[in-house]
Amino acid sequence: MSQIDHVAVLSAYRRYSGIYDLLFGPLLEPGRRRVIELLGLQPGQSVLEIGVGTGLSLPHYPQEVAVTGIDLSPDMLARAARKQARLGLDNVQLQRMDAQHLAFADESFDKVAAMYVASVVPDPAAMMREVMRVCRRGGEIWVLNHFSSPAGPGRWIEQTLAPFAHAIGFDPRFDMQTFVDASGLPLASVQPVNLFGYWKLLCLKRP
Ligand SMILES: C[S@@+](CC[C@H](N)C(=O)[O-])C[C@H]1O[C@@H](n2cnc3c(N)ncnc32)[C@H](O)[C@@H]1O
Repeated sequence: MSQIDHVAVLSAYRRYSGIYDLLFGPLLEPGRRRVIELLGLQPGQSVLEIGVGTGLSLPHYPQEVAVTGIDLSPDMLARAARKQARLGLDNVQLQRMDAQHLAFADESFDKVAAMYVASVVPDPAAMMREVMRVCRRGGEIWVLNHFSSPAGPGRWIEQTLAPFAHAIGFDPRFDMQTFVDASGLPLASVQPVNLFGYWKLLCLKRP
């Protein structure tokens, strides 16, 4: 279980919301585009995006795909809604929801994407249980996140930031193998993305 809780997340993302696109837009954009490309969505399919944030990914989805984006933070969602309206994205539905308690029926979506959110939710295993439940059998779950570095400057930065997890709103120490094992899902692939390949893109299969 991480050191962050919903109060910390809501307060951190209230602060971030106004500058989020500037801080994390271009920096994390290659990963977002890669996920949507690899989702390989076909016309008529549905996808759930967990932790949609300010909706930076939304314009990249094909228009013929039904996209549902959920997020805990009303401040982040308000920005996503403004983007959706400005860009006329009629295929997108946004809802305020906790990733650990999804209000969707079992097997509601063909695929699920979770970008830069797994280390932010207090209980990532609970999030993955919910994601698995709402993804159809045989569907894919794509998780994009940073994970703990085994050594080097990355590890030093993570250790230094760790005591501030509550304030920064995410846990900089996030072990990939522990996350995958806790999800109980088979890992189909792992690939490095973004600057220096510091972030990893995981594909998990819903049995
Ligand atoms: C680092 S941002 C990522 C936003 C977006 N996916 C992107 O690509 O930039 C993490 C997002 O996860 C959301 N979040 C955190 N905990 C959550 C939870 N329990 N349920 C749903 N969303 C959550 C935050 O509000 C925030 O918008």
